[in-house]
Amino acid sequence: MKTLNISVFVGSLRRDSLNRKLATAVAHLAPPDFSFSQVGMDDLPLYNQDDDGHQAASVLRLRKQVKSSDGLLFVTPEYNRSIPGVLKNAIDHGSRPYGQSVWRGKPAGLLGISVGVVGTAVAQQHLRNILAYLDIPTLGQPEAFLHAHEAFFGTDGQFGPASLAFMQGWMGEYVTWVRKHQTGVAS
Ligand code: FNR
Repeated sequence: MKTLNISVFVGSLRRDSLNRKLATAVAHLAPPDFSFSQVGMDDLPLYNQDDDGHQAASVLRLRKQVKSSDGLLFVTPEYNRSIPGVLKNAIDHGSRPYGQSVWRGKPAGLLGISVGVVGTAVAQQHLRNILAYLDIPTLGQPEAFLHAHEAFFGTDGQFGPASLAFMQGWMGEYVTWVRKHQTGVAS
């Protein structure tokens, strides 16, 4: 069985990021032919169109990883009612030079967790706009606006009983979505 490689973008660089914890925990719910790798974004320069002809090594690495992946997973906090700059910067790097975007056609899912009750809903709507523009088919349902209440994670970092069933259901839909879009996605 072919392994489906998923590039994971965590929109927080914080050491104890809840979203990183979420990205790590959700990968454990996937079937064995799915492989998840978190993409480093902390070494990317700020996007500058002047550099399109000589992209930094970190940018080339990111672009290569996305190109060879079979799907994408964005796991992001909400910063001031939008997505964090670090994530937008990475997306911009992958979209250029003009006509050479690495994003097109890669099936994606969105997750986000927040200490606030809005649960990253506004950030995810902003992200959906960006992904639609880049021709990234993005799973619509179930939406996952997750609130980091006390029982969300267990002491082992995995999902607690209050969140496990929902996250398993989400992963089931995500897996179906990624499989459905496998028509020569990786290049
Ligand atoms: C936040 N936070 C936040 N939360 C929210 O629900 N809506 C928001 O608009 C914001 N805005 C915001 C801006 C900035 C600059 C920070 C640092 C934080 C709170 C945020 O959800 C919380 O810090 C999360 O824990 C951040 O995610 P990680 O780092 O835990 O993954």
